[in-house]
Amino acid sequence: MQSIRFRLAIYYSLALTATMVAFGAAVYWERTVTAPREAEQKLKATLKSEGEFAVNVLVQQARALRKLGTAGADSTKQLVADVKAYFDPLPDYVILADATGSKLQYLSTQASTLLPETLDAVSAMVQRRPPPFGPGSLTGGAGEAPLIYSLAEVTDVPGVGAVFVAARPYVDISGLRSVLLSMLMMTPLILVTSGALGYWLAGRSLRPVEVMTEELDDIQDGTSLNRRLAVPTGEDELSRLAQKLNEMLGRVEHSFVALRRFTADASHELKTPLMVLRAGVERSLTHPQTPGEIVPALDETLRQINQMSELVTNLLTLARADEGRASLALTETDLRTLLTDAAETAEILGEARGVTVATELPDHPVLLPIDSGRIRQLLMNLVTNAVKYTPRGGSVTLRLTDALETVSLSVQDTGIGIAPGDLSNVFERFWRADLARSRTGEHPGTGLGLAISQWIAEAHGGTLSAQSRPGRGSIFTATLPKP
Ligand SMILES: Nc1ncnc2c1ncn2[C@@H]1O[C@H](COP(=O)(O)OP(=O)(O)OP(=O)(O)O)[C@@H](O)[C@H]1O
Ligand SMILES: [Mg+2]
Repeated sequence: MQSIRFRLAIYYSLALTATMVAFGAAVYWERTVTAPREAEQKLKATLKSEGEFAVNVLVQQARALRKLGTAGADSTKQLVADVKAYFDPLPDYVILADATGSKLQYLSTQASTLLPETLDAVSAMVQRRPPPFGPGSLTGGAGEAPLIYSLAEVTDVPGVGAVFVAARPYVDISGLRSVLLSMLMMTPLILVTSGALGYWLAGRSLRPVEVMTEELDDIQDGTSLNRRLAVPTGEDELSRLAQKLNEMLGRVEHSFVALRRFTADASHELKTPLMVLRAGVERSLTHPQTPGEIVPALDETLRQINQMSELVTNLLTLARADEGRASLALTETDLRTLLTDAAETAEILGEARGVTVATELPDHPVLLPIDSGRIRQLLMNLVTNAVKYTPRGGSVTLRLTDALETVSLSVQDTGIGIAPGDLSNVFERFWRADLARSRTGEHPGTGLGLAISQWIAEAHGGTLSAQSRPGRGSIFTATLPKP
């Protein structure tokens, strides 16, 4: 979960950074391509009106001179001297040419810095017939950037036939550069902010998944299979997922219930025929006319029938427990009595196998409301295991501990022990450490004893736990809470 959230936050900030970079690049590219074109258009318009202004000035001055009566070559000279004051301070290139273009009458301060080739090109332009009046661009002498110009026709002015006004296009993208630079410098801050924001957003979007996981976590076993996930409102993917999971849970529950039912029914149905079988075999065994040579076979049959009855009883117990139908009949009982009884049985079992039995009991009564039949069953399961899995010469100790809030019943042996990896499996149904020798070998059994014992402890609100060291022995402890 955490990692998807983290990944989403990273993707989010990466996407944002990529968008920013792409945006910056696009703006930069667009500006460097379009800005010169725009600047050229603007410049052309400016130069056109500057040209018109120049023509106006010339016409006014010529008119003034005419009034004064100045004429001939002097008038041109005088005119140039007069307009100088207007044109020299202009930042643009201003050139006045005669009508034929053979003579450039005036060059503004700026224009006199132009290369001779450029000036020749201006002359050549005016010499063309007709001259290309209007705006345009001119590639001047080597090493000079192209000029944008406006050529205007002048009439009625002595010695001047055309005004050439030009400038170099100038595009300033330094502003843009500094904006992009600040964007670049802010990138780490944006990355961190967007990362945090992304983390928060991803957390919010994934919250329903987390809730669903927690809810699924609570569905641990058959008893909680009837639970369903809360379906998030709306018609989004998560609510569909929750619906589908709920449908699946429904199907699983259905199969689970059917299986449980079947186990309960089957074990119940098997009980009566097994009883009849046992009675038949027992009668045959005691019948005087039974031939002696078939007695061993009958003995073995009886043994198998007994084992099968035990299995069927165990299965039925677990199936009922699963269905919640195995209720407890609680009565206030002194646990010492139960433990003493169990120890007696253990002694009988142990005697045959060379195992000694000891008990450690408190000297005061330990009263607890319990189902004494079930707790006896639990103790018997632990005791038979302890004797069964302890080699000759070993010992089994039954201990009753009366603590502040709990009472513990433990059965300790000095037997073969359980491998650490197997310790978590011993309470599972049908799990047995020596599968190969399972039902018939040295340690016969069905593998249901501890599963039933655990259920009994839990049904009383307690726990059953195991500790063991291979070769050194095991200790099984049932801890029951005091009311
Ligand atoms: N005291 C013990 N020492 C060593 N191994 C044990 C002990 N108690 C249980 N085990 C292991 O745990 C397994 C499961 O025990 P459980 O009592 O559930 O089944 P079982 O004794 O084999 O059969 P049954 O259903 O007849 O009791 C055993 O087969 C055995 O391998
Ligand atoms: Mg057992």
